[in-house]
Amino acid sequence: MDAADQVLVVGQVARDLVLRVAEMPGERESARARQRLEMLGGKGANQAVALAQLGVPVALLGVVGDDPVADDLLARARGDGVDVSPVVRRAGTSTGLIVSLLDAHGQWRYVEDLPEPVLLTEDDVLLAARPSRCTVVQLQQPSAAALAAVRQAAGLVVLEGAPADDERRAAILAAAHVLRADAKEGGLLTGADLTDPETAVRAAREVQRAHDLALVAFGYDGGDVFVWRGGSLVSTHGDAHVVDTTGAGDALTAGLTTVLVRGGEPEEAVELAVAAAAATVEHPGGRPHLTPSRLRHFLRRARVG
Ligand SMILES: Nc1ncnc2c1ncn2[C@@H]1O[C@H](COP(=O)(O)OP(=O)(O)O)[C@@H](O)[C@H]1O
Ligand SMILES: [Mg+2]
Repeated sequence: MDAADQVLVVGQVARDLVLRVAEMPGERESARARQRLEMLGGKGANQAVALAQLGVPVALLGVVGDDPVADDLLARARGDGVDVSPVVRRAGTSTGLIVSLLDAHGQWRYVEDLPEPVLLTEDDVLLAARPSRCTVVQLQQPSAAALAAVRQAAGLVVLEGAPADDERRAAILAAAHVLRADAKEGGLLTGADLTDPETAVRAAREVQRAHDLALVAFGYDGGDVFVWRGGSLVSTHGDAHVVDTTGAGDALTAGLTTVLVRGGEPEEAVELAVAAAAATVEHPGGRPHLTPSRLRHFLRRARVG
C-alpha cells in the first residue's frame, strides 16, 4: 500500500481494560467485576480501526512502550488491517493503560495512565513524516506534536477534540479543514455551554468559519450538530441501546472522514458518521465493530434533519 493513498491517524494507542460492574463503587466500597475485557484502545487506535473497518487504507502514528503489551497491541492493530509502521516504540517505557469502570447504566469512569513518554513529541511526528491523502489528528497529544502533524499534512486535515489553550492553538486550528468536538471540547473551544442544539449550531458556525466543516456534540446524551458552508444538520440520538458511549466519538470521526476522503458530500458524511457512532454505543469498550450489516441497520434508523 502506497502511504500516499492512506489516511494517517495521529493519536493515542493504549491498552484498554474495561471492568463491568453492576453499580459504581463509592468511597471505601468495592465492587465485583461482572466482566473483564482487554482490548486495543486509545483514541488514535480506535479511529484507525474504525477507518479500516469502513474500508479506508489507514496508518497509525502513536507511541507504545517496549513491553510485551506493545507486541500484543500492535499485532491486534495489524490484524484489524491498520498499518502500524509509523508507530513509535519508546525504549524503557510501559505502554499506556486506560482502565474503564463501566456500570449497568452506561456510566463510566476512566483511570488513564498516559505519562509523557507514551505521548507523541514533535520529533516523533517529523521522523514519521510521510505523504498521505488525509491526516486525522487527535488533539489530546501535546500541542507541539499536533502542530507538527498538521504542518506536514498535505491533504485533508481533520482535527478531533479541542487543542490546548496555548500559543500553538491558532496555528493548529488554522491548518484544519474539518473539526470535530464533543460537548465538553466544543465548550472549551467556544466558551459556550453546549447543552442544546441551537447553542451548538451557533458555536459550530463560529468554529466552522475557518474550516470546511465543523461538528460539535451537545449535551451528554443530546446529539450532534454538523455545520458547513452550504448548510447544517442536527442529529438527535436514535433508539440505540446504550451500553457504553466510549469510542462513539472516534467512530463518528472515522465515518465522517471516510466519506469526505472519498470526495462525498457533507450530507452523506453526516449519515455515515451518525450511524457509526450509534453502532459503537451498544457494546462495552471503545473498540468499534462497524460491520456492513450493523451500519445498514443504523443508517436506516438515523435521525438527521
Ligand atoms: N445513544 C446514542 N446514540 C448515538 N450516538 C450517541 C449516543 N450517545 C452518545 N452518542 C455519541 O457518542 C459520541 C461520544 O463522543 P465522545 O465523548 O467524543 O466519545 P469518545 O471520545 O469516547 O469517542 C458523541 O458524538 C455522541 O453524540
Ligand atoms: Mg472524544
